[in-house]
Amino acid sequence: MSPFRLTRTLPEDTTDAALRADVHEGLTGSPKTLPPKWFYDARGSELFEEITGLPEYYPTRAEREILRARAGEIAEASGARTLVELGSGSSEKTRYLIDVLTGLHTYVPVDVSQSALTQAGQALAAERPGLEVHALIADFTARLTLPGTPGPRLVAFLGGTIGNLLPAERAAFLASVRALLAPGDALLLGTDLVKDERVLVRAYDDAAGVTAAFNKNVLHVINRELGADFDPDAFAHVALWDARHEWIEMRLRSLTAQTVKIPALELAVDFAADEELRTEVSAKFRQEGVREELSAAGLELTRWWTDEEGRFALSLSVAR
Ligand code: SAH
Ligand code: TRP
Repeated sequence: MSPFRLTRTLPEDTTDAALRADVHEGLTGSPKTLPPKWFYDARGSELFEEITGLPEYYPTRAEREILRARAGEIAEASGARTLVELGSGSSEKTRYLIDVLTGLHTYVPVDVSQSALTQAGQALAAERPGLEVHALIADFTARLTLPGTPGPRLVAFLGGTIGNLLPAERAAFLASVRALLAPGDALLLGTDLVKDERVLVRAYDDAAGVTAAFNKNVLHVINRELGADFDPDAFAHVALWDARHEWIEMRLRSLTAQTVKIPALELAVDFAADEELRTEVSAKFRQEGVREELSAAGLELTRWWTDEEGRFALSLSVAR
């Protein structure tokens, strides 16, 4: 068993203050929105893992296919001694990289979900004797302070999670990743690609209703943390393709006119019948767009791989 360390850079009271601020801002604005990072409590992380195995949800399988085929090339290009993974979740696909990064000294999974980090981190530390696992509970959209570990560093951001940021947030995020990279370091980025609308919508509106449960989980989080009285059954899961922005938009539609009380915020929120609350976007990309966004952040795309069917891409980039 190798060392497993868990560091919280998000003090619990900060998390709480951030949740309050986000919920207040999002539910008093028009249209109403909620930021996606609050989906991922222990139950949310479990539901997401269930989503990754659904027949309709192709991104995880497509990205796994690429990693399986290209891990050797990625390892050779990076020679990383430290692998940092943002939004690591179960770290399941990451094993393909860890297996072939021969000089790897430390794995630093970064996530807001303490339950996912602990489970994945402890399992990896047990499976890989000699690998240091230093898990960080942190918000990757805030300024990250990484532990002082040997370079070169490979920063992996998989799962297409970058698509859950809005364009301005993506630009700020990529600039902050750029600031983490020293010469010789690299970014490995997973991006889901634009494709047939029906395939996309099905991936976010599965027949078994797991994605609907995942979407509604954010209401359970607000009920538990802020004492709210959301009735999740009074909302319907909506997934639609926004062709102008090229993103999937997830919403919760209020089935009736209703008022929700949020005691911790001393707030009552009115929903009209059919009013929709935006909970998440999942942007889909094209190679040129990815290259341009990276470039605007001072990063140069050096490699681009897709799965056989061209559904998903992994790219490698370095600081310019
Ligand atoms: N990388 C995994 C999980 C993707 S799901 C995969 O490819 O399957 C997105 C992950 O990012 C979740 O584990 C979630 O808890 C985490 N996450 C979401 N927003 C975050 C944020 N702002 N900061 C840190 N982690 C975040
Ligand atoms: N990063 C994942 C994606 O955009 C997150 C995700 C998958 C998700 N399914 C979801 C988020 C459903 C909210 C609802 O594909």
